Amino acid sequence: MIKVTQIEKSKISTIDFDNLSFGTVFSDHMMVCDYKNGQWQQAEIKPYEPFTFDPSASVFHYGQALFEGMKAYKGENNEVFLFRPDQNIKRFNKSSERMAIPEFPEDLFLEGLNQLLRLDADWIPQGEGQSLYVRPFVIATEPCIQANPSKEYRFAIICSPVSSYFSGAVKVKIEDHYSRATPGGFGYAKAAGNYGGQFYPTELAKAEGFHQIIWTDAVSHEYIEEAGTMNVFVRIGDTLITNPTSDTILDGVTRKSLIQLAKDLKIPLEVRPIAISELIEASAKGELLELFGAGTAAVISLIETFNYKGQNYQVENDANSYAQQLKKALTDIQLNRAEDQHQWRYKVQ
Ligand code: COI
Repeated sequence: MIKVTQIEKSKISTIDFDNLSFGTVFSDHMMVCDYKNGQWQQAEIKPYEPFTFDPSASVFHYGQALFEGMKAYKGENNEVFLFRPDQNIKRFNKSSERMAIPEFPEDLFLEGLNQLLRLDADWIPQGEGQSLYVRPFVIATEPCIQANPSKEYRFAIICSPVSSYFSGAVKVKIEDHYSRATPGGFGYAKAAGNYGGQFYPTELAKAEGFHQIIWTDAVSHEYIEEAGTMNVFVRIGDTLITNPTSDTILDGVTRKSLIQLAKDLKIPLEVRPIAISELIEASAKGELLELFGAGTAAVISLIETFNYKGQNYQVENDANSYAQQLKKALTDIQLNRAEDQHQWRYKVQ
């Protein structure tokens, strides 16, 4: 049983839903559950408010923290849906294992999502491309600066009404010096540090006029791995290609859904490593027809130009692209506009 304390007065009337800047506005309630004495304590849904922690709390020093990202949608008759929440819950616990954080009970996680989204359903915007971005996370809270796994944690879920993450096609730099993840590391986990570590190289790329970085493998820097915070897809001729997941690549829910949808749409698909040399060769021959990132926040983010060692290469990105077909197929399922043959849509109850 989750203890519920409702807000006295909603702040929803103060929000401009037509001008949402991603991740800056939060709904009225949040879920919170603390871990201490070897177990998760009473879970609560309560008014959104700041946390207070001791300055020695472990997360401030050693970064034992991770998160998930998912979206809630409102269909035409005001039903609320999540997309494959089971996948996010499982990945949350997989990330937890890698970060030496105790796993969170799956049933309590799902129950919390249901209750929180029922309570804050009015916060789910219904404009084109809009949704309620749901951000579960866990941080190490033990007031202790020994470099050991914390004995106390806080799990929480907050919700943010959002519009599209990126607008328009982006220019990216293929990074051949900095690495996002290393073999044996924790690149596959949604650990906070995986994202924090990207900021500096990405800022350098932005200063050179790029929007994002395409990460390459840390050993040879010859194969592409991820596009910013997203998985990466490329179309060469008629074939759609994405690289396999590994300990350096996030097992993206959008990625695996697009792979299945590509099969459903009979799009020729290969899941295999993608060499930078192959992209350059395809671009020279006019066969590099699409390049895009795929993730929960942006769904699909088109890349129009990539730069490698100072040289720009063009991507064709034609109008009837695989990206458009796949994005439509995916969002139609998410929004309850299409049949859901894989049972991905989850109706909040
Ligand atoms: C996603 O694409 O879902 C992400 O993880 C992006 C997030 C860091 C805003």
